[in-house]
Amino acid sequence: TWNMTNFIESKIAEIRETVGDASVLCALSGGVDSSVAAVLIHRAIGDRLTCVFVNNGLLRKNEAEAVVKTFRDHYHMNLHYEDASDRFLQKLAGVSDPEKKRKIIGNEFIYVFEDVKKRLGSFDFLAQGTLYPDVIESVSVKGPSAVIKSHHNVGGLPENIDFKLLEPFRELFKDEVRLVGLELGMPDEIVHRHPFPGPGLGIRVLGEISKERLDVLREADHIFLEEIKMADLYRHIWQAFVVLLPVNTVGVMGDERTYENACALRAVTSVDGMTADWAHIPYEVLARISNRIINEVKGINRVVYDISSKPPGTIEWE
Ligand code: XMP
Repeated sequence: TWNMTNFIESKIAEIRETVGDASVLCALSGGVDSSVAAVLIHRAIGDRLTCVFVNNGLLRKNEAEAVVKTFRDHYHMNLHYEDASDRFLQKLAGVSDPEKKRKIIGNEFIYVFEDVKKRLGSFDFLAQGTLYPDVIESVSVKGPSAVIKSHHNVGGLPENIDFKLLEPFRELFKDEVRLVGLELGMPDEIVHRHPFPGPGLGIRVLGEISKERLDVLREADHIFLEEIKMADLYRHIWQAFVVLLPVNTVGVMGDERTYENACALRAVTSVDGMTADWAHIPYEVLARISNRIINEVKGINRVVYDISSKPPGTIEWE
């Protein structure tokens, strides 16, 4: 049987053995996999691990601050925080095609990462939180016909990069990584985080992306998640997020006519993200979320709830 303590101990020994006196660079996204990988590797080799966290301008509200706080202040890791928001947003200006957005974001991440790497000096290993399903998927998805959406993860680095890869979770599934995180004493907020796509809010602001629209989305999304947590639903839901629609609708606020954005709430239950059902959130909770978003978020005057399952819908809208 699979024993957690043994796994951690033997992985730590293995990492020490593999790395020797060398140094490791880790692309940290703040998600479960790279976060747990960073903490495990840090435990094995301490300061010879350097983490890079790139702010692509497409993160949720307070996310960058939270990652810096956790890894720099709490875990005392060498964390390099790179705010590349402007770079990403410039490249994305005027682009509305979902696949183009993904390509731009994925490529820009590689440029930024290469840039940072050069500035930080030389490293022998690149650490990634690659899971078993990622290994399988990258083998099985052969032709473009099989690609429904080109997934860019934070780990989507080019193969010819001059690093040896360190992937401690190559044989694990996500729930096992969560157990590793818990065993390592990591907080629930990290261990039970919903998955978040590499292209981030870039594929949740439908149509053209701007700083203003991202800010509107961030506020609404924050309220949605806050209410989901307050109603004790967060752990029962696979992902919950707001999508900002490229549609203005007429509304009334006081005596004034408004003509502002509509947004959609998306929440699904799933075991692996491959198939999903829309989450049957109680009406009272939906009502509270809708009221709060419309009253508190300037720029949104209508909220709709997405009741599509996957398939035929996908989880994300783009
Ligand atoms: P879909 O929308 O295809 O999403 O049902 C399935 C899961 O994958 C996530 N997702 C992505 N993750 N890069 C990622 O790293 C991407 O480009 C991407 N697109 C979708 C999505 O959030 C869901 O968990």
